[in-house]
Amino acid sequence: MHTTPLTDRFGVEVHDIDLGTLDADNFAQVRDAFETHSALLFRNQTIDDAAHMRLALMFGPIEDRETDTLEVGKEFKVPRVSNVREDGSVTPEMDLHTLNLKANMLWHADSTFLPKPALVNILIGRVVTETGGATELACTRAGWADMPPALKDRIRDRAVWHRLSHSRARISPELAALPMFHKWPDQLWRAVWRNPVNGAEALYIASHAFAVEGMENDEGTKLIDDLIAWVTQPQYTYAHQWRVGDVLIWDQRAVLHRGTAWNYKEPRVLSSICVTATATDGVDAMRVIV
Ligand code: OGA
Ligand code: MN
Repeated sequence: MHTTPLTDRFGVEVHDIDLGTLDADNFAQVRDAFETHSALLFRNQTIDDAAHMRLALMFGPIEDRETDTLEVGKEFKVPRVSNVREDGSVTPEMDLHTLNLKANMLWHADSTFLPKPALVNILIGRVVTETGGATELACTRAGWADMPPALKDRIRDRAVWHRLSHSRARISPELAALPMFHKWPDQLWRAVWRNPVNGAEALYIASHAFAVEGMENDEGTKLIDDLIAWVTQPQYTYAHQWRVGDVLIWDQRAVLHRGTAWNYKEPRVLSSICVTATATDGVDAMRVIV
């Protein structure tokens, strides 16, 4: 597999793989690169929804927000991260739907608020914007490795509470009040995710994080803000400017991501499948029972 780095610290572009016709041997190389580099970019891919699902299933069970994990044999519609309505019109900037897309512009890992969090997001460029609309990634493995010990020691053995409506509330109280953001109980995850394949540790945090277990509220939220600020410094980030046919894959255990603003009159459509983290991905060691 021919790869070139995306940044000094993480991520590679993979040049000679057709994701639409990936066999088990090729997937093993992709999975290997995923464990090592945390973010993978493939350009000029021809990959329809069925092939997207086949690729996702090689990583593990497909996440279905309706049932949490897709049941075998159940019909699944590949989710679109999109501002385009069924009738082709674009949702206005202050529409609740657009506001929800804006909530994606806070640094996060996907699905930390679900009882089973995500391992990976496989995002595909379908309709891209002229300017803006990049997706940015931040490597929390590199950020954790470089973190000053005084900051590290405050969070290392702690656990963090996650709630979807928390990130939505930072954008709009009306948005946060929608029932769709209150489907799951608060989730508690250890603050450091150790990769079971290579032992690398990464800070596990998100815009959904609202409290540090056992820490006074103001102190906890301040600490969460400081940690996110540390790991999202420019030397740990990559900005992906989309082209149609790009496939961007990242490890949710070791990477934060966010959308960035664009001219909201322009349509922007990405296909997104998250795969649920399983025991072999180290999720059981992340659970904390209180
Ligand atoms: C996502 C996401 C950001 C973007 O698909 O989970 O956060 O750039 N997307 O649209
Ligand atoms: Mn996301």
